[in-house]
This record gives sequence, structure tokens and C-alpha cells, in this order.
Amino acid sequence: MCGIIGYVGHRPAVPILLEGLKRLEYRGYDSAGIAFIQNKELHIIKTEGKISKLEEKVFSQDVLHAEIGIGHTRWATHGEPITKNAHPHKDRDGKIALVHNGIIENYKKLKDELLSDGYEFVSDTDTEVLVHLISREYKKTKDPLAAILRCLEAVEGAYAIGVIFLDRPNEIWACRHSSPLVVGLGVGENFVASDVPAFLPYTKDVIFLEDGEVAKIGKDVVEVYNSNKEKVDKDVVSIPWDITLAQKGGYKHFMIKEIMEQPRVIHDATAGRIDFNKMKVVLPQLDEYPLPDKIQIVACGTSYHAGFWGKYLIERLSRIPVEVDIASEFRYKDPIIHKNDWVFVISQSGETADTLAGLRLAKKRGAKVIGVCNVVGSSVARESTTVLYTQAGPEISVASTKAMCSQMVVLLLIAIYLAQRKDFSQREFFDQLLFSLKEVPQILRKELPNIRDRAKELAIKYSFARSFFFLGRGLFYPLALEGALKLKEISYIHAEGYAAGEMKHGPIALIDQNFPSFVIAPKDDLLQKIVANIKEIQARQGPVICLTNKDIPVPSTDRWEIPYLNSIMTSFFVLSATQLFAYEMADYLGKDVDQPRNLAKSVTVE
Ligand code: F6R
Repeated sequence: MCGIIGYVGHRPAVPILLEGLKRLEYRGYDSAGIAFIQNKELHIIKTEGKISKLEEKVFSQDVLHAEIGIGHTRWATHGEPITKNAHPHKDRDGKIALVHNGIIENYKKLKDELLSDGYEFVSDTDTEVLVHLISREYKKTKDPLAAILRCLEAVEGAYAIGVIFLDRPNEIWACRHSSPLVVGLGVGENFVASDVPAFLPYTKDVIFLEDGEVAKIGKDVVEVYNSNKEKVDKDVVSIPWDITLAQKGGYKHFMIKEIMEQPRVIHDATAGRIDFNKMKVVLPQLDEYPLPDKIQIVACGTSYHAGFWGKYLIERLSRIPVEVDIASEFRYKDPIIHKNDWVFVISQSGETADTLAGLRLAKKRGAKVIGVCNVVGSSVARESTTVLYTQAGPEISVASTKAMCSQMVVLLLIAIYLAQRKDFSQREFFDQLLFSLKEVPQILRKELPNIRDRAKELAIKYSFARSFFFLGRGLFYPLALEGALKLKEISYIHAEGYAAGEMKHGPIALIDQNFPSFVIAPKDDLLQKIVANIKEIQARQGPVICLTNKDIPVPSTDRWEIPYLNSIMTSFFVLSATQLFAYEMADYLGKDVDQPRNLAKSVTVE
């Protein structure tokens, strides 16, 4: 949570910092600020609210002569989202400015020590201890590396930090532990940021910092040190993304752009992973591992729902048992993991704190950890035994859409891969599956505008609702959970996802004419079961939106038809329909679709 940007180079720094912050705003947006050195003075400008408010404040001043600066967009953890708690924070002489992403767990103890040393605090944040600790050490040694390392020795928690010193106007110092930070390499200019899109218009060449490393970033040189003050050689990675992928491309919101990108996302997630001559899934990363007795999936939120969908599929196709856990539970439950188990860790960002903790625990217990991850070079990607990238491109909207779609494709490929490795006898069935997967992008591309139109009609009709049930069975149960999550997170309408057969065990008590249910009932083996569940709801006057296929006789108040390929591929149409319903509802109700209240994209705190 929180976004950091730093720039040093030959251009005016402030516009670059603000532009970078806008691209990072998905990481947090309750307050923001910048610090820059101009005319031998350190300036800090900050405000509560969004970057647009900061921009108004900044451009009413003369700011265009700075060539170095750092910026921050905040998602509050310690201290309310008000101006005094916004970053950057400065030391008491006003000569050092610092931005921080993460949580300093022992800040209270450190603050008490600093208070008894005569330091005064102007904010309620944990961050302020960092700038005072660095300042105290810097005064003694005038060595920024030594000062930062001494500070980090005292600190417990997760952090990514950017610092500038007034008497070093050509250097940004940056370091990380358990929070992402990446250095961007330009010509005569360099960058540091929480995420690559912040500086993508200027460079695609990056260095990923590892935990405990400290970087000195000048305009012509970047040096990275380890905690023993030794210089470390770092690989330069070229990011395959294009800046257009990180822009809205004519759409009103990133969320709708990202939903409409899903046909391409499905195609890209399969690229190079299917050999259509042999009709085989090719995942060479997994070939060297003996087939597992059990699979464990660990993830949070939407990625967890993808994992849950993957469980149904992997068990159905490969008959290998799969357990799925929410990462925040998994990490504390003392999980039973054997050395020959495979653990799939699913994360769009690759930086989710709970997911990373689950990954580390599984690795410690000797399992093969396979990251299913979107962000290249992220912590999940680097720390997993091996990684399968989902190749969805940057996802900017806080509500995850195309990332889940790409995770589902990868999980489907994993399920077929395992089934084919175990037993190749159902050849025809898998041939058909692979052919239909190839067809999905084209059909989805054609159908998405119709699905969107129907989503809009129904969203307007049901915008009266204060609560919704999302119901499904089998493969569509995880998608019902995801439909409910999407609706609640961006429209703020309360929604619960249930396995439809579970309604009669309690939830049905809530049904009346004002409590609609969104039932996912496409053609599949459980259709007659779900028809019975719909009738139970209708018998209690509950309105029912029924997502189904042409010529399928299901009772409903409002019928919504989507194309049918087979029940597995229909999942991609169901996913898109529930996403579009949530999107159209939130947009109709005038909500902030891309940046819903209280949320942030990358949850790097526990
Ligand atoms: C919901 C959403 C979150 C994330 C969750 C995990 O729309 O985006 O529920 O799915 O925070 O994030 P990643 O996948 O980055 O680990």
C-alpha cells in the first residue's frame, strides 16, 4: 500500500514526480506529498486527499527548477489521512526528507527513545521515527549509507524507503525490506518507485532491489550495497510492457478497459504454453518435479477465488487432491505440507504480505512453491521455486479483473498439464478443451459489448438493492464469491456469495421482495439442482437475475443469456458478466470505480 517515486536527472523533477504519483495512485490515495531540492533549499508540499489536490497546491508555486525529488501517495496505517501525517516527513533541521511504504512494528519503542533524546514529533505516523533515526546517525558520520544501515538495524517491520539529503543534492537513497521497490535506469536520469508504471514513459530498464539492499541513485550512476556496505552487482531487467497498457485508452475507467482487454489476456496467458501439433500443454518449469500427492493453493481476495476455481478444475481433471487457503489463515494454521507437495501461490501484484508469508512458510517446509504471478520481478516471482507469469499486463484499477481472468487460464493449463502427465487416455476430451480455449478470445471479444449492455440494464433496474446474494454451484460457486466481492468493493452494496445449495441452511431467511439474488445457472450437470434453489427463492418473493445460456429453461425475474461453449469455458463469460454488472452498478451510482474507498491495490501490510 502507499506509492513511492523518486527522480534525479536533467528534467524538471516535480512534474515527473506528480505524473509518477498518478500512476501509483492505485496503491493508496488518502493523502500525498513531494519533497524536492531547489535553489539549495529543501521544499516539502503535501496535502490530504488525492494527487489532483496536491497538483493544485504544487503548481500555484514556483517548482520547475528542481532536478531531484521524492514523492508519496498514502494509504493510512498509523495516523489519520490528514496533511500532517502525509509523507514526506523531514528531520528537525529540515535537511532530510523521507517517504516510506510499509509498517514499522517497533515504532512505539523507538519513538519513546527519540522523545527522551529530545526529538519532537509532528505527525502520528510510524514513519517519522525513520527520518529522526537517520538524521541522528547522519550528523555523526556524514555517511548516508552508514546512517541508513544503522537506522535499519534498529527497525522491525516492512518498509520501502526513499530519502534525500539537502547537502547531497544529486543523490536519492532507497532501501527495502518486504515492500517492493524498483530502480528505473534512464540516460542522464534515474528513477526509483514502488512499481514500474510510475516511470514507464521514460524507461523499461529496471533493477529490482532485494530485501536489505540500499541503493544510491544519481543521475548518471546507480550503486547498490548490501548490509555489509559491499557493492552488489545487479542484473538489469527489461520490462516487456508498453506504456499504452498503463493508460486508459479512451475508456472512462481503468476497470472497464481491463475487463474489455480480457480476450487478449486469455490469448496471452496461453501463448507458448500449448503445442497444438501434439495437443499438449507445455509447462517446462514443472517437468522436472515428480507429480505431487497433494496440491496446496495459497492466495488472498480475488486471487483466492481464482485458486478456488482452480481447485475444482484440477481435482476434476487430474484427480489430484487440492486444498485452498486464504493466505492470512494459512500462515498461522501450522499447515501440513510434505516435501513432495506442490504449493501454488497466486498473486497479481506478487507483493501481498500474507501471500508472501505463506510462500516463505511453504518453502521452509520443503515444498515446491510455484508462483502464479502477474508482476515480473515481484517478490512472489523471485522467491518462488519457479514462476508461471500470467502475462496480463499492468492492472491499474484497484478492483482486480483481468488478472483473475489470466490466473484462471493458467490454472486451467495446469489442470490439463497434470491430467496429461498422469494419464493421456482421455485424449479426445483434452483436444476439445484446448480447441475451445483457443476459440474463447474471439467469441468473448464479439460478445463483451452485448454483455455490457445487459449488465447496464440490470444494474439500473436493481440499483435500489441494499444487499445481494450471488449464488452458484460447482465451478460457478467460486465465481459467485468473486461476483459478490466485485459488487461490494466498488458499489458499496452489501453482497454475499454462497454455494446455492447452502441457502436453505440459513441465508434464505433474509429473502424478501427487496433482496435480489444473482444466480449463475449455465448449462451443466448441476443445472436441475440450481433450478430447485431458484424456486425456493421465488417461493419467498425474492427477485432473481439468472445468468444462463440460450434455450436453457430456468425460472427467473430477469434472464441474462451468455454464450455456451462447455461448462469450463463458460466460466470466462460468467466472470466477465459479474464484473460488468459490478462496474455498471458502481458507475451508475456515481462511485469512484478505479479507487474505491478504504482500499489499495497492493496490500503489502499484514
Ligand atoms: C479485489 C482485489 C483483492 C486482491 C487481493 C490479492 O478486487 O483486487 O482482493 O485480489 O488483495 O492481491 P494479489 O493478487 O496482488 O496478491
